[in-house]
Amino acid sequence: MTSRPIMIAPSILAADLGRIEQEAERIKSSGAEWVHIDIMDGHFVPNISFGANMVRTLRKAMGDVTLDVHLMIEQPDRYARDFIEAGADCLNVHLEARHQVARTLATIREMGCRAGLAVNPPTLLKHAIPLFPLCDQIILMTVNPGFGGQAFMPEVLPKIREARETILRQNFNIDITVDGGIGDDTAPGCIASGANVLVAGTSLFKQDDLKQAVVKLRASASSGCASG
Ligand code: DX5
Ligand code: ZN
Repeated sequence: MTSRPIMIAPSILAADLGRIEQEAERIKSSGAEWVHIDIMDGHFVPNISFGANMVRTLRKAMGDVTLDVHLMIEQPDRYARDFIEAGADCLNVHLEARHQVARTLATIREMGCRAGLAVNPPTLLKHAIPLFPLCDQIILMTVNPGFGGQAFMPEVLPKIREARETILRQNFNIDITVDGGIGDDTAPGCIASGANVLVAGTSLFKQDDLKQAVVKLRASASSGCASG
């Protein structure tokens, strides 16, 4: 497990996008530290979501909530500047996408943004570890990316543990984020394995009281601290 503070990141993909400003208010008053914004291009993943305008809208609406932007797109290097100028605090690119990953991560940092590396469930961690010095965050996908509402993949748990052990051993300052199928039932195992940021869409937004849902998720997650 980790001594880093637990952060909750509601995924905007599961919000009511027809009422984005009200949803932003709801997230802001929920006590969540981050908001997670899924950008999908219909190529890297078989689904299309939204673009930099969504980030711009949320930047205006969200005050000092951290905007965590997850690029599930090919050639993320071509679009990094747009998303940073739109207001991303952390820009995450996929190891599996078509780009020079090390160069993209370095460029993101040079532009004054936190750089994150997202890794799909089948990808071995050994391919990501050499890039850790260039990262502020690692997203370990706990579903195959593309859609909200999928079932959590418990086979990713050993990868979370391996990542945390590597980070502790090498004394890196890196958040470990889990993304996909996270809820009260799956959060404790992720935290016990060493994650400290929980992205959650469906499990949070299906509840009427988002603030209460965040409190509950945080409490479940904390039980993972005791068992890790
Ligand atoms: C999946 C996205 C996730 C998604 C999570 O491709 O990267 O961020 O919004 O949604 P839930 O929590 O519903 O699995
Ligand atoms: Zn995501």
